[in-house]
Amino acid sequence: MAEREIGFGVLGLGMGQHHARAVTDVEGARLIAVCDHDPTRCDPVAEQYGVKGYHAFADLLADPEVEVVSIATESGTHMDRGLEAVAAGKHLLVEKPVDVRPERVRMLIDGVGAAGVKAAAVFQSRTTPLNKRVKEALDSGRLGRLIGIHALLPWYRAQSYYQGPHGEWKGTWDLDGGGSLANQGVHTVDLVQWFGGRVKSVFGQFGTFAHEIESEDASSAVLRFENGAIATITTTTCAYPGLPQFITIFGDRGTIQKEDETLRTWTMVDETEEDAKVRAYYGPRDGAEGSAIASDPMAVGAAGHHAHIKDLCQAILEDRDPEVTLESALHAVEIFNAIFESGRTGKEVTLA
Ligand SMILES: NC(=O)c1ccc[n+]([C@@H]2O[C@H](COP(=O)([O-])OP(=O)(O)OC[C@H]3O[C@@H](n4cnc5c(N)ncnc54)[C@H](O)[C@@H]3O)[C@@H](O)[C@H]2O)c1
Repeated sequence: MAEREIGFGVLGLGMGQHHARAVTDVEGARLIAVCDHDPTRCDPVAEQYGVKGYHAFADLLADPEVEVVSIATESGTHMDRGLEAVAAGKHLLVEKPVDVRPERVRMLIDGVGAAGVKAAAVFQSRTTPLNKRVKEALDSGRLGRLIGIHALLPWYRAQSYYQGPHGEWKGTWDLDGGGSLANQGVHTVDLVQWFGGRVKSVFGQFGTFAHEIESEDASSAVLRFENGAIATITTTTCAYPGLPQFITIFGDRGTIQKEDETLRTWTMVDETEEDAKVRAYYGPRDGAEGSAIASDPMAVGAAGHHAHIKDLCQAILEDRDPEVTLESALHAVEIFNAIFESGRTGKEVTLA
């Protein structure tokens, strides 16, 4: 039994619908209210879960039962809504990316610190068993000296994704921070830095090829980590019909390759008994589902959000930091902005 239930209010009911469902599924969390200024989104979700539905964010903030505000609005509004929420004494769960520019993320971090509340960022790729296993192998030195991390995200989004009342902000610089790299690709950017460590410099290229959007639908970058290893990241929303994320990691003592949550290669120079078990457990399975998210933006699994919500509840009860803090989610935003800067200037960009 959980010590007590933590009350959640979800703001923004596109992706926020998944937050609402995940909150109701997590022991120790209780969905108090949902909020969207679009009543056609708010009212059915409020009714579905039998909770309060607010059309104005101020009403959600004024609700004393709401302890955590889950922010799932347009990415370039997270800082503003987050600062309003912490000023009202609420804890935060913030969708990825925390905001679209590093300075905006830092302002939210400062606001959270000043208010003395807890704030967790959503980067659900960090919560999957395989990614945790890969991180553990890297941190314990199983791959030896890290040499390279090479990530490809060949996804597909139809033009209709960027249209309509909830589509027009997507692919804009101010609200989405960019396109395939800042929106879809930011999970991959974050994984690369989570696996490899801090990035020292980047060289990037990007362009707009198959969509009418302001920013980009294809990007490629070469990154140099502070530890000297090299990474590449390629993202797109043009690769019909949408293919799995593919990541290759190698050091001087081993190689790992993964395709979404399926392990393709786990080969260590110093093979142990456990390595065969890792291959058997995380390797290809008969009937395993393909990656729907590669082509369907709403096909996000809820498991990662469960893990974030559960951890944030515990962090509040235990008065500790959540696993994915805003600080730890900042570097991904710094990296994608540096890639864009490099693409614009044609020069390598060094991160501060
Ligand atoms: N973790 C993931 O894998 C994942 C997947 C998809 C989207 N996201 C993130 O979720 C966020 C939302 O994306 P989306 O695709 O759901 O966008 P969306 O446009 O479909 O939904 C945003 C909703 O917020 C509402 N809203 C905005 N400001 C509001 C306010 N002040 N008061 C009340 N309602 C307000 C809008 O009316 C809209 O319904 C983005 O930051 C995106 O990056 C994360």
